[in-house]
Amino acid sequence: MGGAGEGNQGALLSGGRRRIFSGIQPTGRKHLGNYIGAIRQYVTGQERADSIYCIVDLHAITVQHDPAELRARLYDTAALLLAAGLDPSRCILFRQSDLSEHSELCWLLTSVTAWGDLNRMHQWKQKRALLEDRRGGFVSAGLFNYPVLQAADVLAYRIDEVPVGDDQRQHIELIRETARRFNERFGDTFKIPELVVPEVGARIMDLQSPLSKMATTGGTELGTVYLTDQPDLIAKKFRSAVTDSEREVVKGPGKEGIGNLIEILAVVRETSVAEVESEFSGIGYGDFKAAVGGAVVAWLAPVQERYGELRADESALEAVLADGAERARAEAAPVLAEVRGKLGLGPPATRP
Ligand code: TYM
Repeated sequence: MGGAGEGNQGALLSGGRRRIFSGIQPTGRKHLGNYIGAIRQYVTGQERADSIYCIVDLHAITVQHDPAELRARLYDTAALLLAAGLDPSRCILFRQSDLSEHSELCWLLTSVTAWGDLNRMHQWKQKRALLEDRRGGFVSAGLFNYPVLQAADVLAYRIDEVPVGDDQRQHIELIRETARRFNERFGDTFKIPELVVPEVGARIMDLQSPLSKMATTGGTELGTVYLTDQPDLIAKKFRSAVTDSEREVVKGPGKEGIGNLIEILAVVRETSVAEVESEFSGIGYGDFKAAVGGAVVAWLAPVQERYGELRADESALEAVLADGAERARAEAAPVLAEVRGKLGLGPPATRP
C-alpha cells in the first residue's frame, strides 16, 4: 500500500481524500496476526487517506467478559495502536462506546439485514460452536448481531476503504450488501466501502497449527506470538514452529508452516516472498526459523518500548480517546440524522 497525499493537520477530516475506517477489539492480547494483517495497514493508511480507527468495546461484550478487565484491555489496545505508529494528529482514534451513534445505527440497520445472512457468517458459526462446546453453552444475541454493529461502524462515516485481515472478508461483504439494500429501499444514503487486505500477510497462521489462523481464542499458546511477549519467548515460539518433513524454504502445498514463516519474514523485511525464498535456498529449517524469530524480535522492539511508556499514562490515553470521540461524532452525527429521517423516525426535519 503506497500512496500520495498531504498530512492531515489534525483538524477535522479534510475531505477530498480517500477515507479509511477500521475497528479492532480490545479483547485478549493482540498478536502478530493483528499487527501484520491490520495494524500495519492502519499506520500506512493515515499517511495517504483520512483515517478513522475505532477500538470496538461494544463488540467485546458480545462474549462473557469482566468489566474491569475490559477497561484495562482497552487501554492496552489504545497504547499498542499509538506505539505502532498511529498519530492522533493524523487520524481519528476513538472508543466505540463513547458514541451512541454506533449502537443506534446498529439497531436501525437490523431492519435491512437478513436474519439468514447473519446465520451464514463463518465467524458466527465458529464462535457459537466454540461457546456451546467449551463455555457452558451461553451464546448471546449480541454475538449473532455482531456484523450489524460492524456495518454501523463503517457506514456511519461514508468510507472508501476498510483495511482488515482476510478473516473479515465475509463481514465486509455483508456491510456492502447492507448499504446496497438500504440505498435501494430508502434512497442513496450510504457509500459502498471496499475491502482492503494486504497482499502478503492477510492471514497469519498459528505457528503450532499452521492450518488454523493465529487467533486470541481457539489458538495454541505456543503458536500465538503476542505483541507484548518478551523477546526470548518470541524467539522460542519461532524456534518451535511446526514445519514439514521436506527441506526447502519455499511456499507450496503441504508446507503451510514454512509458507507462513516466509510471509512473516517478507512483511518484516518489506520484501517479497520470492526474495525470501531465494535468500534462504539451501538453508536448513532450524536456521531459517531462528532468522525469522530474530527479525520479528527486532521489528517489534521499538513498538514494545513505546508501548511500555504509553501504557503507563492512562489519563493521557483517555485524553486521546476523548478528543477522537469528539471528532468522530462530528462525522457520524449528520449521517445518523439523515438515516433517521429517511426511515421516517422522529419529527420531520425543519428547514431554515
Ligand atoms: P479483531 O480485533 O478480532 O481483529 C483486528 C484485525 O486483525 C485482523 N486479524 C488478522 N489478520 C491476519 N492474520 C490473522 N491471523 C488475523 N487475526 C486477526 C482482523 O482481520 C482484523 O482486521 N470484527 C473486527 C473488528 C471490527 C471492525 C469493524 C473491523 C469491528 N467493527 C469495522 C473493520 C471495520 C475484528 O475482527 O477485530
